Amino acid sequence: MDVTVAPVSRLSGRISVPGDKSISHRAAIIGAISSGVTTVRNFLQAEDCLRTLACLRDLGVRIEDDQGELVIHGAAGRLSEPAHVLDAGNSGTTMRLLAGVLAAQLFTAELDGDESLRRRPMDRLADPLRRMGAHVGAREGRYPPLRIMGAELRGVTYEVPVASAQVKSAVLLAGILGGGETTVIEPTPTRDHTERMLAGFGVPVRRSGNRTTVTPAVPRGSRVIVPGDLSSAAFFLAAAAAIPGSELTVENVGVNPTRTGVLDVFRAMGAPAVVEGVRDQSWEPVGHVSIRGRRPHGMTIDGTLIPRLIDELPVLCILAAVAEGRTVIRDASELRVKESDRIGVLVTGLRALGARVQERPDGMEIEGGRLRGGTVDAAGDHRMAMAFAVAGLLAEEPVTVRGAESVALSFPGFFETLGAVTGRKPVVSGAGSNG
Ligand code: S3P
Repeated sequence: MDVTVAPVSRLSGRISVPGDKSISHRAAIIGAISSGVTTVRNFLQAEDCLRTLACLRDLGVRIEDDQGELVIHGAAGRLSEPAHVLDAGNSGTTMRLLAGVLAAQLFTAELDGDESLRRRPMDRLADPLRRMGAHVGAREGRYPPLRIMGAELRGVTYEVPVASAQVKSAVLLAGILGGGETTVIEPTPTRDHTERMLAGFGVPVRRSGNRTTVTPAVPRGSRVIVPGDLSSAAFFLAAAAAIPGSELTVENVGVNPTRTGVLDVFRAMGAPAVVEGVRDQSWEPVGHVSIRGRRPHGMTIDGTLIPRLIDELPVLCILAAVAEGRTVIRDASELRVKESDRIGVLVTGLRALGARVQERPDGMEIEGGRLRGGTVDAAGDHRMAMAFAVAGLLAEEPVTVRGAESVALSFPGFFETLGAVTGRKPVVSGAGSNG
């Protein structure tokens, strides 16, 4: 499906966005291994999270959908051997978090995914799970499909070599299902939704600096209300930030400090982002995020900021392309192993739209100025599709995004919301477009 997005003179309104993807995956998985019933409200009904539900059902977990609220009948740590290969689709979080759970099950299971997921590294995960006692087979030693022969696991202290919340979470989940204390040490703090939710479900979790320790325990089923996803909100906030005169509020989004790097960057680039009405909801801070448009200026984005905005870098690169001055992005080589090589896809796409960009192994340098418009390919990557759609709002001429159907992986109503905040419907054409 191709979608053409035309430039707008301002964005305004109060909107909400679908539930947080990371928190939805965790609520389903932690609910599935808990004792008793877990209910989940505002679960993200998008392809990635639905894959997690399908895999959990294949593992014998009963999950009902009661008028949009999930009711998960927990298996108290012990899942059932699946009859066939578990299909994680495009979802890295599904594969990596489930691998942690499967490592502690006394059966063998296979996890596979689509062409994109089959190119993503799993050795970062296989290594700690093997140290804990599981047998993990992978194609060429590091790629899916994964074949996991679970075992009675032992506790470990594991220093994660890359900043990855998925690897941290997999080891912690294996740790609570195993037989001893498990400690994960991170090089830089990453999103801590797993730690918060496990503690909320009654699991002993100790945290000190970059170290998190869990002891084996069966989580107790609970009630989760998933906040709106700041990573989804970021597309609209970035567009509003770049267009003077815009005023946009996104209501009820998660503002966990491990995720709010994007708001720090908006502020540093000159667009005031304000968070109001913050409250605690299911162990996570949630609030309303407002932004007003200004001509942004370039900056350097690197270091410990990177994991706090890793999924927002695509749209921040679009913002940088229309900002005043140069933006340098460093320390972000992880972007190369996401749903696509996001550095490569961004550099190609930005150049096609008329931006001046220099590729670096771990990021890029963008000379801010203007975007001309044109046609770009999202490379099957949902966040690239949404970032390029935002480029259409900010460019001089329309932008046509090829492969825009991938937005359904994390944000099925993305183009409808885009129409609502701009007052103009994007034009959809090509295969799979039905209105
Ligand atoms: C996620 C962690 C991040 C992020 C991904 C979701 C999570 O990946 O990019 O979209 O839910 O734990 P890494 O763990 O690979 O950094």
